[in-house]
Amino acid sequence: MNVDANLLGEFENLLNPAFPEKSGILPEILGYGEISTTFSMAAMRDVAFKRMPPFGNPDQITAYIKAVRTYCALLRDVCGIRVSDYAFYEFFNRHEEHILYVAQPRLPQGTIGHNVLKSGTRQQLETMISTIMERIMRLFKFNHENRQKESIGLDGQLSNWSFQFSGENNVDPVYFDITTPLYRVNGKEQLDTEIFLKSCPSFLVWLVRWQFLDEVLDRYHDVRMILIDMVANFHKEGREDLIENALLIINSYLKKENLDKKIQILEKSEIDSYYKNDAFIWALFLTLRRFDRFVKTKIFRQRYNFILPGKISR
Ligand SMILES: Nc1ncnc2c1ncn2[C@@H]1O[C@H](COP(=O)(O)OP(=O)(O)O)[C@@H](O)[C@H]1O
Ligand SMILES: [Mg+2]
Repeated sequence: MNVDANLLGEFENLLNPAFPEKSGILPEILGYGEISTTFSMAAMRDVAFKRMPPFGNPDQITAYIKAVRTYCALLRDVCGIRVSDYAFYEFFNRHEEHILYVAQPRLPQGTIGHNVLKSGTRQQLETMISTIMERIMRLFKFNHENRQKESIGLDGQLSNWSFQFSGENNVDPVYFDITTPLYRVNGKEQLDTEIFLKSCPSFLVWLVRWQFLDEVLDRYHDVRMILIDMVANFHKEGREDLIENALLIINSYLKKENLDKKIQILEKSEIDSYYKNDAFIWALFLTLRRFDRFVKTKIFRQRYNFILPGKISR
């Protein structure tokens, strides 16, 4: 991974987060997640960057970096997950803000799970689901054995994995969604989730605390919820037709491994109702953030420090 740190610093100083297309150095948006935006730039085409919400003080950055490192090591060593390389870059920008970027090798667009889902073969879909299942079940075993002492969380959605197939059945996916490192020690999330509240207008803090911090983070530690969330996103990718097939693979895996006593098999109806609720909450959240951006930039002419997703089709 070839990162020119000076150029990245220059990018930061010329960045217009509210209107990225008006920045001095143009970012090429690679993907929008729920919280952050991943982009690349012409001078470093093989790198993907994630700009983190501004941190309050250097200790928070140090703690955050440590959380990411520990989390990636757990995914690798406990769950046998191949985790993408990453590197951190910090700057004080011209507004004296302490900004952290996470850089990763840029993975080919066509290998990202949701793109494979759109255009891949049925066999590839089955391979994706069963390789993810294997890895999630190692996580389940670890969390189950450690009970409340230690717990690893994971966002298993296909859009967080890169699949470079060698043959239709053979793939060792790379997991790259590492900027929300989720693991708990004695029930306490090690990530300081308050940093995410900073990216959020004050009138939304209640919504995020309520939905994101409690319910949403819990669900990434609960294997059944991880699976429901992964499959529910087939709706978002316009592949509802594949949901039954995915459930068949997941449920027969659970039965085969005798896990269906511990993890109840999944029903199509709960996938659908979960998706409705989830899509509604995130769409509302995004709409309110856009409204906040509008008020800050157009009415009060203030600086707005976050790159928001464009339209997400649901
Ligand atoms: N290293 C990467 N290479 C290529 N595309 C990426 C990379 N990282 C993220 N993306 C794209 O950006 C999207 C969101 O990134 P992700 O890491 O999942 O962050 P989030 O926490 O916002 O979900 C991904 O679904 C993918 O399309
Ligand atoms: Mg993601």
